[in-house]
Amino acid sequence: MKLGVNIDHVATVRQARRTTEPDPVWAAAAAELGGADQITVHLREDRRHIQDRDIELLKRTVNVKLNLECACVDEMLAIACELKPDQVCLVPEKREEVTTEGGLDVIANRNRVSDAVSKLHEAGIFVSLFIDPAEDQIALAKELSAEAVELHTGSYADAPTDALRTEQLKILKSASAFTKTSGLHLHAGHGLTYSNVLPIAAIDGMEELNIGHSIIARSMFVGMQTAVEQMKALCIQGAKG
Ligand code: PXP
Repeated sequence: MKLGVNIDHVATVRQARRTTEPDPVWAAAAAELGGADQITVHLREDRRHIQDRDIELLKRTVNVKLNLECACVDEMLAIACELKPDQVCLVPEKREEVTTEGGLDVIANRNRVSDAVSKLHEAGIFVSLFIDPAEDQIALAKELSAEAVELHTGSYADAPTDALRTEQLKILKSASAFTKTSGLHLHAGHGLTYSNVLPIAAIDGMEELNIGHSIIARSMFVGMQTAVEQMKALCIQGAKG
C-alpha cells in the first residue's frame, strides 16, 4: 500500500498572497520524512495552486515517486513529456470547479485519451487514468494501454448516510476486483480522510492512495511530517485488514 501525498493546497495558501511561502517543495520534503511513498501535484491550466516552477523543482528534489496530475490537453502533455515525472495521472478539468469533479470520461474522450497515453508512453511515463468506478471505463482504460486506474472515491467520501456510503464502498470493491482481473494497477483517491480511509485501504489489491486536502488540513495543527505519519499508519492498518 503506497501513500501519495497531494501537496496542492500548500501552494493554494501561497497563491492566496502570490508570495513565496509556504513552499510546496518544503512540504514535499516534510511529507517524505513522514513516510510518503509519492508526492502528487496537479498542474491546473489556470495555475491556481501549483506553478511550473514547483514541478521543475520537485522533479529535481523529490526522492520518492513524483506523480503529476493533469488534464488531457496539449499544453500539459508537452510539460509532462519534457519533465518526465514517474507517473502521470490524467484527470478531467473544468475551470469553474473547486476541485476535480467526477472521473475522466474515457469513453466520451476516447481519441484524446488514446493520443495522450501514446505520447506519454513515448516519453517513457507510467500512465494512470482517474476514472469513476465503472467497468466500461476500466475496460477501455485497459484497451488504451494505461498501466493503472485511479478510482474516484468522491461519491463514497461525500455519501450523506452510512447506508449510501456502504453502497458506494460495494461499487468501489467490485470495480477494484474488475481492475485487478483486467491486469491494471489499482489506485484510488479523492475526498479520503483520517475517518473514512480504512475501508478503502482494506480493498483487496489496493496499491496506492492519493490524499491531499485532509492531510494538509491536519498538517496546520500537527505539522506535515506527523500528519503524513498518521495517515500512513491508517493506510497500513487498513491494508493489513
Ligand atoms: N486524486 C486525484 C486524481 C485528484 O484530482 C485529487 C484532488 O486533486 C486527489 C486524488 C486528492 O483529493 P483530496 O484532496 O480530496 O484528498
